Amino acid sequence: MEALVCREDELRAGEIRTAFLGHDAEGRPIEALLLRDGQGRIVAYRNLCRHLPVPLDGGTGAFFAEDGRHLVCGTHGATYRSGDGYCIDGPCEGMSLHPLHIRRSGGNLYVSLPA
Ligand code: FES
Repeated sequence: MEALVCREDELRAGEIRTAFLGHDAEGRPIEALLLRDGQGRIVAYRNLCRHLPVPLDGGTGAFFAEDGRHLVCGTHGATYRSGDGYCIDGPCEGMSLHPLHIRRSGGNLYVSLPA
C-alpha cells in the first residue's frame, strides 16, 4: 500500500505530515511520519516506538522534543535523531525507528512500507 502525503514544496523543516498505511499483522494501524530534517533531507518513519508498540505521540500529534530537532516518544521519553531515526537516549537507545520508502512523483511525496 502506498499513500500520498503532500507536495514536496509544501513540506517545511520542523513540520511532520502523516499518512495511513493500513494495519500490520497484529492489527495495529500503520501511520507514516514524513518530515524534512535540519539538513533538508526528507525522511519517513513508522509512528511506532521501538520500546513498546505504541505511537510516539500517543495520539497527541506532538512528535518533537523541546529542542525541535529530535523526535521523542511521549510515553517514556525515548529520543530519536530526526535525520536517521536512531535512538540516542531512553529505553530503546541504540535502536532505530522503522524507515519507510519515499517516492517522488509529479512534485508529490508518497510513502509505503519497504519491500
Ligand atoms: S514506549 Fe516509547 S519510550 Fe517507552
